[in-house]
Amino acid sequence: MVQTKTDLMSTIVSLCKRRGFVFQASEIYGGVGNTYDYGPLGVELKRRVKDAWWSRIVTARNDVVGLDSAIIQNPRVWEVSGHVGGFSDPMVDCKKCKGRFRADKLEDARCPEKPSKVPGQCAGELTEPRSFNLMFKTHVGPVEGTGAVAYLRPETAQGIFLNFKNVLESARIKPPFGIAQIGKSFRNEITPGNFVFRTREFEQAEMEFFVPPAENDQWFEYWRKERFEWYVDLGIRRENLRLRDHDSDELAHYSTACSDVEYEYPFGWGELEGIACRTDFDLKRHSEGSGTDLVYFDPQTKEKYTPYVIEPAGGIDRMALTFLIDAYEEEELEKDTRAVLRFHPEIAPTTVAVFPLVKKEGMPEKAHEIEAMLRRSRYSTFYDEKAAIGRRYRRQDEVGTPFCVTIDGDTLEKDVVTVRDRDSMEQVNVAVPELLAWLDEAIRNWKRVR
Ligand code: GAP
Repeated sequence: MVQTKTDLMSTIVSLCKRRGFVFQASEIYGGVGNTYDYGPLGVELKRRVKDAWWSRIVTARNDVVGLDSAIIQNPRVWEVSGHVGGFSDPMVDCKKCKGRFRADKLEDARCPEKPSKVPGQCAGELTEPRSFNLMFKTHVGPVEGTGAVAYLRPETAQGIFLNFKNVLESARIKPPFGIAQIGKSFRNEITPGNFVFRTREFEQAEMEFFVPPAENDQWFEYWRKERFEWYVDLGIRRENLRLRDHDSDELAHYSTACSDVEYEYPFGWGELEGIACRTDFDLKRHSEGSGTDLVYFDPQTKEKYTPYVIEPAGGIDRMALTFLIDAYEEEELEKDTRAVLRFHPEIAPTTVAVFPLVKKEGMPEKAHEIEAMLRRSRYSTFYDEKAAIGRRYRRQDEVGTPFCVTIDGDTLEKDVVTVRDRDSMEQVNVAVPELLAWLDEAIRNWKRVR
């Protein structure tokens, strides 16, 4: 079935609500602007995206370690990092409807009174752009005063720079090495939107890779390619991705070069992840700001230098949205159409669904036994005995479960189950004692079919 791009986005949004991936936050109170909660399947999807990121960036390597730093840091951190003074977007107001919009993203915004028009092309007149700081301010302790002002972090990266020395000394590593972190960040975005693509509260996965300055360019090249290929390895179609180098006027205040991994969303090409050269900007600023020496001394070469930093920084919510959009397909079959999420099995919220063919003759008991066996291994499972088997397959296709295991008469007699593959819809018989090994192999050999 041919879907327009707008249809695709609204199909994803409604599937997310209906099947329990994403709900509007505070829904029973009328919601709160562009803020979302993740339901049972959404939280599994996000957890798997985070596990896949951590496993590739930290666990599989011997040159990257992890960190979990605080959201609220000393407010001086954000003055010194440049965020209090410079982390701003240009904002315009509509004199007619009083709507507020990002001046550099007007084409993505809609007039609240005439949603078919972008702001400024409706009857409203826009003000001159002015700078709007994106930091969320709060107060620490019971007294609200300037002395108690604090900020919610707008990026996880600064917590890494603050712990550079602690990690260097405790983990006994030396440049080139990285510190990785996954956690919530907060930005008072002027115009959040496109579902979970841009929200005010979101999760980031960032890694600061500290290198000798002379190795900056080679590591920048390495991380650009490595991050791009991670998405392809997890099933995103290569043709829907591109690496785009920033023009100099797009660069953040701390960076000298940046490439974005972009995805072609239903609303156009957009940033999925940025890989930036942050040079020695942050470590030098925090050395000056705190009075703590953040220079690295190499005991072998006797060299002393402030490392340069290559930073791959992505958003977990944006990654989850991208995996959902890219996986979604409506496939024409002989008699009907099926909706299927072709997730990589490592990303799929449920790995195996287990069904008794009928709700009698001991099949539910056997199905529960097999489900428990799979659950005790590393698989997430779902048991379903309601409705006809065909309908049960379709329900699992729609949430991207790669394998369905059916327990029938042969299981009771010969200890054999039927495994149905989500992508090819083919069914094979597998002996129960071999089921775990069979699934392991199928997951290892999984390839995107379309
Ligand atoms: N430390 C660098 C940094 O924060 P960024 O490009 O501003 O760089 C990195 O953010 C990633 O975080 C983005 O590529 C995007 O995936 C995600 N992100 C940023 N702002 C976001 C928002 N408002 N909502 C959801 N994700 C966001």
